[in-house]
Amino acid sequence: MLNIPVKVSPVTLNYEVWATLYDKVYGDVVDDIPYYVNQITGPDHAVLELGCGTGRVSIPIAEVTSKLTALDLSGQMINVLKQKAVLGGLILDCVIADMRYFELDVKFDLIIIPFRGFQSLLLKDDQEKCLAAINKHLKEDGKVIVDMFFPSLEMFDQDNRVFYEVKRISGEDPRTSTLVKHRSSFDMHSQLIETTLLVESSKADLVTETRYLDFTLRYIHPKEAEYLFLNNGFITRNIVNNFTNSIENQSSEMIFELEKKCDY
Ligand SMILES: C[S@@+](CC[C@H](N)C(=O)[O-])C[C@H]1O[C@@H](n2cnc3c(N)ncnc32)[C@H](O)[C@@H]1O
Repeated sequence: MLNIPVKVSPVTLNYEVWATLYDKVYGDVVDDIPYYVNQITGPDHAVLELGCGTGRVSIPIAEVTSKLTALDLSGQMINVLKQKAVLGGLILDCVIADMRYFELDVKFDLIIIPFRGFQSLLLKDDQEKCLAAINKHLKEDGKVIVDMFFPSLEMFDQDNRVFYEVKRISGEDPRTSTLVKHRSSFDMHSQLIETTLLVESSKADLVTETRYLDFTLRYIHPKEAEYLFLNNGFITRNIVNNFTNSIENQSSEMIFELEKKCDY
């Protein structure tokens, strides 16, 4: 039996640390953004993003609707998002809260959890709490979108002592670049992937900074995910597969499109 405080609080702390590096490491992940923006039907479309982070997806959404609420547990992540919104002259509501327990007095047309945020919930019980909170805040004809990834066989086979190269990102100054490597180990019983990212910044071929960032995600098989959603009040209407350019690009990225189950 997992102990919630031990498993969940370090993850939360890690995301506070992440805020300063998140955009450097994931700013180049853009393939999913048109998909989310295309879901917005007009400037009054009420959208809630859970686990919004520094606003990689929130900022483009706030450009097409004035009714975005962006929620994250990390105050540091939200601070970065707020600065970007001010710079872009964009209006959005920012909320620091836990996606398992939030209480807002608004109902939404669309609730999204992009880029694996749902997988930060490390217990099935946490995922069910989050789905209950979503159900409470979703309009009857509303839509939910949850992005998850399922690790590839290659990933399961990797040596958990080795850092594997993920990508090298060029900086605005052509002499600078950021190398990202990952080392992951699997807890197959609890379906957890514990990853350390090594983020190495260089200028003119000299390493200027090396940072290590840890995070843990819970992976679930697509069929198991469908049953989890079904048992918690949602029908899976569609699964959109594989945006490229994700962090472990051989793994399958799946976007689950959900609707409320009528009799729930
Ligand atoms: C992988 S990032 C995704 C950020 C952003 N949505 C994107 O697409 O780039 C996951 C985010 O979920 C947040 N998070 C993790 N656990 C959370 C929880 N229990 N409640 C709310 N946010 C949480 C983290 O702070 C982090 O910002």
